[in-house]
Amino acid sequence: MVSTELAEVRATALAAVEAAEDLAALEAVRVVWLGKKGKISRLMQRMGRLSADERPAFGRAVNELKGEVSGALATRRTALKRAEGAARLAAERIDVTLPGRPPRLGSLHPLTQTRREIESIFQRMGFAVERGPEVESDYYNFEALNLPPDHPARDMQDTFYVGPGRVLRTHTSSVQGRVMARREPPIQIIAPGRVYRRDSDNTHSPMFHQIEGLLVDREVSFGDLKGVLQSFINQIFGRPLPLRFRPSYFPFTEPSAEMDVECVMCGGSGCRVCGHTGWLEILGCGMVDPNVFDLAGYDTSRVSGFAFGLGIERIAMLKHAIPDLRLFFENDVRFLEQF
Ligand code: PHE
Repeated sequence: MVSTELAEVRATALAAVEAAEDLAALEAVRVVWLGKKGKISRLMQRMGRLSADERPAFGRAVNELKGEVSGALATRRTALKRAEGAARLAAERIDVTLPGRPPRLGSLHPLTQTRREIESIFQRMGFAVERGPEVESDYYNFEALNLPPDHPARDMQDTFYVGPGRVLRTHTSSVQGRVMARREPPIQIIAPGRVYRRDSDNTHSPMFHQIEGLLVDREVSFGDLKGVLQSFINQIFGRPLPLRFRPSYFPFTEPSAEMDVECVMCGGSGCRVCGHTGWLEILGCGMVDPNVFDLAGYDTSRVSGFAFGLGIERIAMLKHAIPDLRLFFENDVRFLEQF
């Protein structure tokens, strides 16, 4: 009778183990049969009611049953684990041959691109690139350029003063004196960089970029200046454009001129960009004033030279038909991505 019962328990328990579909279900089966209060453990409690003769055989049989069921549990557990692992591998399969996502490359700021383009045009004409400090002495920003203290022309540029005798340079012309102070002619340089003026509206930014040019040698003429600038304009705009020089005034050049190019938007017929004049003002220039050479210690009877200064923003706006100066400084990627 006992052995039939044990055989039934064995069959049901082993069937339950086989029927468990996952590890959680298998654990539930284990608790039901082998847990502290499980069905097989409870069989043991019956020992007390058996006669002394029956006990050993019953005990052995239950222990055997226990061993058999836990063996089946272990086997089933291994099988289920393997199946679950295989299923996870299949679900998480990745194709290592797919190409990776390329990192998003930025691009150079349009002003950097324009500056480099201008630099390389002048470098091909023999100009070397020089740089000077943005925080500049009053001497190099003004005095060395024939602008003594209290000279009324200082008002042409609203200056940021940053300390006694210290300014944020208002133009790259400040590099002229620095180069001449440490070198003898011939000199043929350009000087790109940031400049600062107390000026801010649609067409003026308190910080903008200029490129200065300075050429000093024997018998340099205004014709040389025109030739260099015409070549530059043709290259930067990609086609020959008519130029016009209007007399102007700068304390550090004599004679001085402002140079206009035929409007690149309308071809000279007049439009909003050129104020219906057909001309665009591009840069200031002139022959280096003898006073500037005197201050540099150059012999004015032996050398002459020309200088010019142009705004990089202005060139970039005209080249790319950019309508608003502020676009350069807002760093809106929708704008920057177009270059
Ligand atoms: N420094 C002048 C300006 O900022 C430009 C200039 C440079 C004019 C060199 C003449 C010669 O307006």
